[in-house]
Amino acid sequence: MKYRKKIVIGNWKMNLTVPESTILIQKLKKEMPANIKSEVVVCPTFVDIYSASEELKNSQILVGAQNVAEEEKGAYTGEVSVLSLKGFVDYIIVGHSERRNIFGESDKIVAKKAEIVVRHDMKPVICVGETLHEREDKLSKVVVLSQLEASCKHLTGEEITESLVAYEPVWAIGTGQVCSEAEAEKMAGHIRGLVKSLYGEKVSESVRILYGGSVTGSSAKSFKKSKNIDGLLVGGASLHHQEFAAIVKNFDK
Ligand code: 13P
Repeated sequence: MKYRKKIVIGNWKMNLTVPESTILIQKLKKEMPANIKSEVVVCPTFVDIYSASEELKNSQILVGAQNVAEEEKGAYTGEVSVLSLKGFVDYIIVGHSERRNIFGESDKIVAKKAEIVVRHDMKPVICVGETLHEREDKLSKVVVLSQLEASCKHLTGEEITESLVAYEPVWAIGTGQVCSEAEAEKMAGHIRGLVKSLYGEKVSESVRILYGGSVTGSSAKSFKKSKNIDGLLVGGASLHHQEFAAIVKNFDK
């Protein structure tokens, strides 16, 4: 099996001002255990990307963005272009369920965002996940796989290898109800299976798959053994330096 570097991404969402995030970064730099093999990424708000990337220069923590415009340039008031993020971030989250459900982002938009990110040599973290209703209707697999297929439809095999897929069941986000390792691992297996059928085995063995939804220091431990889960996407717990460092430590190999 191909080696896939583990990754833990903190999605700060719209929770911190610039001074607050500076304090968190300083604490995180001190708290982060040495000799960690995983990649560690934090995703501040746009207004904070520049100062966070300055603060994190020469540290083991990388910077990501929470979103990006699907167009490169032009009359799109209030949007942030991939060109503005280039040089400051390594990862960009696209299609988070909050973007899909609150701001009405379709798979088509997410596909354009994923495409623009890889074409500018950054890594999209493509989020997929079913709602509680869909889960109750036993539609989880169908929903997740159709979101993924539509969201990566402009990507070549090489480009999907550079992309990450985050399985974030909507019912587990911010609810304290973490998806069991067995269920998340099963879905990650389906995701890898879809990538295999679309792009072949070699590509499917390279793509990194993350789980996200109410991850804490203690639940991070249970995902360590998952064969198909290579990373964690963390919301609430990433706002607390000790908890986030515990997640990294407990998930690292
Ligand atoms: P929580 O960890 O707060 O459930 O959020 C998960 C998430 O949405 C990360 O993108």
